[in-house]
Amino acid sequence: MKPRQPGRTSQVPMPDRFILDDERIVIMNSRQPSYPGCRGGSLPFWMLQEADMTFSSQPPSGNTSSSHSTHPRTQAGPSTRALHQGVEHDHPFHSLTPPVLHTAAYTFENTAALVAHKQNAHSDRLEYGRYGNPTVRVVEKRLAALEGGEAALLVSSGMAAITLPLLLLLSPGDHLIIGDDTYHRTRVFAQRFLPRFGIEVSTVPATDLDAISRAIRPTTRLIVAETPTNPFLRCLDLQALAQLARARGIWTLIDSTFATPLNQQPLQYGIDLVVHSVTKYLAGHNDLLAGVIIGGATLIEKLRDVQGLFGAVVDPGAAYMIHRGLQTLGLRIAQQNRSALMLAHFLEQHPKIRQVWYPGLASHPDYSVARRQMQGFGGVISFEVEGDGAAASRFVDALRLAHIAPSLGGVDTLVMQPSIMSYFDTPPEERQALGITDELVRLSVGIEDPDDLLADITQALEAI
Ligand SMILES: Cc1ncc(COP(=O)(O)O)c(C=O)c1O
Repeated sequence: MKPRQPGRTSQVPMPDRFILDDERIVIMNSRQPSYPGCRGGSLPFWMLQEADMTFSSQPPSGNTSSSHSTHPRTQAGPSTRALHQGVEHDHPFHSLTPPVLHTAAYTFENTAALVAHKQNAHSDRLEYGRYGNPTVRVVEKRLAALEGGEAALLVSSGMAAITLPLLLLLSPGDHLIIGDDTYHRTRVFAQRFLPRFGIEVSTVPATDLDAISRAIRPTTRLIVAETPTNPFLRCLDLQALAQLARARGIWTLIDSTFATPLNQQPLQYGIDLVVHSVTKYLAGHNDLLAGVIIGGATLIEKLRDVQGLFGAVVDPGAAYMIHRGLQTLGLRIAQQNRSALMLAHFLEQHPKIRQVWYPGLASHPDYSVARRQMQGFGGVISFEVEGDGAAASRFVDALRLAHIAPSLGGVDTLVMQPSIMSYFDTPPEERQALGITDELVRLSVGIEDPDDLLADITQALEAI
């Protein structure tokens, strides 16, 4: 349903404090519990001690960053983490960058070496490209470290990151609960494909924990949710969800694509698996498809086996481009968070805009949840223009910087009307029930200069 009601009260302990730093909200909370499969310990993610990323407890002289000057600097900032974390620089020929290893197969010196490899199933030695690639492994380590997970599996698309865990964890007779504001194809897979295999599926309002609780059956095995959701940016209380599910022995999977590991770390709250469409912010340049699943090492190894069966692997060249994209993740996300927040405020007060959904606005139904569990609110804004679908199209067509395209999270600003893009084939009644009106526009803010984006949107609004 279209989210206009206020968000529910959350049981998550209030953060120790918020620090507003140039519109980026840093949430200091040292009371988060630690969970298996999560490298976190009891400290928040950005204060974790890691051998390669630990700083002296005193800030370096000359550091005037207001968000950190009030706290000992025990963890590198987001840009540094995205550039260094999780990857050792022990590449061949002392190269600074990781090699792109294009090979389908790995050779053995002799038969004895082959037999030794087969007998030691958990060795790092590789045998065949569908079971692993060194360039891909470099990216997996970095993504696991960024998300605060034990291990990561890079797969061929965001959809593969969603479908592989569902196919591994669910068996005939099992019950799945899924949020109603999840990515359209995720819901299609759950609602239309899984029942063919005797799996029962309940769809519940995306952020309604009471509805999730009521939907639980003795056979419920997995809860799949997205936060923030698409297109209404609804935010689910991650800690409350994890508590609810863990108490009943149910797995949880969160699609955190819209947040990125820099804005939100679901594993810290006790979520079992986090997935991202790497296609979006993580790769960041709208030039490749990939997905990632992050969680406990045992589960990820099982998923690696399933990946070997399904063949949903990433090409090493694409893996290198992801590695390259991750190097600027911190810069990109900081800029996109900042620009989107500014534009959301602007749109909200504009007379030609009926409603804006952005979790960094106090008017958003999940503002308090977002402030508590996110360090930034992301680059996607959804809004309804005054008038009808044609008015929305006139606005979209008048934009000069934004491209009309279905994706999000990359360096270019993209815009679309969901009713004629992802929901084009959905019957009007169903679209209406989901709140997808013709006047709804989704904007994925890129890294253009914020003033240019503002000027472009301002002139395009004249066309309504
Ligand atoms: C939130 C979310 N999850 C998953 C996907 C699927 O990702 P991919 O297109 O990489 O398969 C998308 C695609 O738009 C998405 O928006």
